[in-house]
Amino acid sequence: MSARDQFFNSDGGTAGIGLGIEIGESSTSQVGRGVYNATTVPMTNASSWRNGQTNTATKTTPTAIATTTASQLVAVKQTPLESVAEDEEDLDQMDALSNLPPRDAVDIEFRDLSLTVKLGFNRGEKEILHNVCGKFPGGQLIAIMGPSGAGKSTLLDALSGFKTTGVDGSILLNGRRRDLPSFRRMSCYITQDDRLQPLLTVSENMHIAADLKLGENVTYEEKERRIEDILLLLGLYDHDQTLTMRLSGGQKKRLSIAMELINNPTVMFLDEPTTGLDSSSCTKVLELLKRLTSQGRTIICTIHQPTAKLFQIFDQVYVLSAGNCVYQGGTQKMVPFLHSVELPCPMYHNPADYIIELACGEYGFDKIDTLKSASENGSCLTWFNDPGSVLRAETLMRKHPIPRRKKNVSMENTSFMNQCSVLLRRGYIKARRDTTMTHLRIIVNIAVAVLYGAMYDRSGREGSRVLDNYNLLFAILMHHSMTTMMLTVLTFPIEMTILIKEHFNRWYSLKAYYFALTLIDLPITLLSTLLFTVIIYLWSYQPLEWVRFWMFFAISLLIVFVGQSIGLIIGAWFDVVNGTFLAPVLTIPMMMFAGFGVTLRDLPSYLKWGSHISHLRYGLEGFIAAIYGLNRGTLACDEAPYCHYRYPKKFLEEITMRGDQFWKDIIALCVMMFIFRLGAYIVLKAKIKSIR
Ligand SMILES: Nc1ncnc2c1ncn2[C@@H]1O[C@H](COP(=O)(O)OP(=O)(O)O)[C@@H](O)[C@H]1O
Ligand SMILES: [Mg+2]
Repeated sequence: MSARDQFFNSDGGTAGIGLGIEIGESSTSQVGRGVYNATTVPMTNASSWRNGQTNTATKTTPTAIATTTASQLVAVKQTPLESVAEDEEDLDQMDALSNLPPRDAVDIEFRDLSLTVKLGFNRGEKEILHNVCGKFPGGQLIAIMGPSGAGKSTLLDALSGFKTTGVDGSILLNGRRRDLPSFRRMSCYITQDDRLQPLLTVSENMHIAADLKLGENVTYEEKERRIEDILLLLGLYDHDQTLTMRLSGGQKKRLSIAMELINNPTVMFLDEPTTGLDSSSCTKVLELLKRLTSQGRTIICTIHQPTAKLFQIFDQVYVLSAGNCVYQGGTQKMVPFLHSVELPCPMYHNPADYIIELACGEYGFDKIDTLKSASENGSCLTWFNDPGSVLRAETLMRKHPIPRRKKNVSMENTSFMNQCSVLLRRGYIKARRDTTMTHLRIIVNIAVAVLYGAMYDRSGREGSRVLDNYNLLFAILMHHSMTTMMLTVLTFPIEMTILIKEHFNRWYSLKAYYFALTLIDLPITLLSTLLFTVIIYLWSYQPLEWVRFWMFFAISLLIVFVGQSIGLIIGAWFDVVNGTFLAPVLTIPMMMFAGFGVTLRDLPSYLKWGSHISHLRYGLEGFIAAIYGLNRGTLACDEAPYCHYRYPKKFLEEITMRGDQFWKDIIALCVMMFIFRLGAYIVLKAKIKSIR
């Protein structure tokens, strides 16, 4: 019996080692079988992850197995004691699994599905999926395979409803046309990159997910129980106090799955859940998914190039080549299929590798056409594991009642208030641990204030140093506007990727997110600005009057808010590289229009409008009003024999500012802040829409 036969004829739940270890029909075949038995364990035994331990079998890679000699095998074989311990662990895991309520399986079918993307202005369009068909029976683990660029992620995006623009064709659920809002309520999408909050522990991430995804009606005990169950099931229980950023790749992937499992979705889409993981983590992730399907969940994942061992974990595969379907059917039927189209899989070859080589065109592009027509671009059901049991759409329709229509139900599971309070809690935990946004920001504010203080010591009271003081005011303005803007531009794009995932998976509405984002930053902004203002105000000997101090502080604060809002607009729309370029480039004209280099009087008449839209102009005018306005008296003149600007009025005339415009400046800055904040929200919304 060849290893291929062993592979496809493996009975019961026994997982076969793949074809990379093909053993001939000579006398070594007995050893081969020995390898097979000793290194493979039934599916339920293969995933003892609790306590972060892996059994010997799952750690052994096919290559290692191939070189294992018969004598080594004896050592590998488990002692009865070990298997008893493992059995107990498995029992625990099965218990954990049984606490997740089973789901009614959902059949997914798509017909003539095509997806077109716009290539940009005047560049036309490009069709990525070309009228593909397919059927994914409920309760199965389905792999979408294909070479890189074949359209796997695109198909997943279209099926999950993540992409809606440019999608043509029909997608049926249990025979009925997909109703996207209700489908989104029963499904989840786990992206290829793990978009997790790095500064939260596993447990905190899970609790936040539970509070956002389960309604307030679910009791604390119930939430706790679910979290415990899922963490046990996914082998993360012992790492629940670990910060997410310190988790390994496989653990991050499992945490991504764990967080979506909380509200027990019926259909799960995963984009390349195994890419970047070592072979043992891959096996763990896939075996977990396989177990989840046994409860009625339909799990569809894209996979790049699975090993033979991973390949046979799947129930069904769907192979894409340049946007066309080249095979659809059971994993075990792929070799017979290839045989039927006279493209037999060579000996010593993993069929998964072989079909991908075919799909790449390595054996000629005519082969792709042969495969495409043999699989009827996904319509052919002949190669399904049990073609007789595949139900037609009409039968499925009759079998499943029409779902009740829910009116005016929001996409999110919990109320706006709950979303805000959970997001605020998460924001608070993050802010406490965030070295950049919190610690560094406060330190930078103190450090810059000290530096400016040392540089402009006493410049506020001296008549001979009025110009120095004027420079200081402008420097403060730039500091407030640039630091927060750049911080936001640099950090928000990362936050944005998490937002897109969580928002699509209906954790919270954009409104709640934005509200929490605005609110959570307030205390840090207030504190850092206050610290800065106190240090610089006192050190540079600005007039010691409360009213002037608060005026100065108010302008500083508003400038920070405006800068931050501009940063948000840029950060929401552009990536870090473009944002980092754009933010300073946009600030320079604002600086020019501020009235600092060229006075407002001397601005050419056709550029006067610029000073009305420059927040820095209002900021500078506000500072001047706070320091030199309110009819400030004559300044001291101790350091020089002659002080040209001893009389503030003279200085104000020189810089063409009146010093009584404070309230106008405050109103202008408030209006700007409001407009930019609203603008950032609109940009955020548009960005999310444009991606879909
Ligand atoms: N927005 C887009 N604009 C242009 N081409 C795109 C766009 N999205 C995807 N593509 C192209 O479509 C093909 C399929 O992409 P994708 O589904 O990501 O492939 P994969 O199978 O590797 O997941 C690739 O050639 C990719 O370059
Ligand atoms: Mg992809």
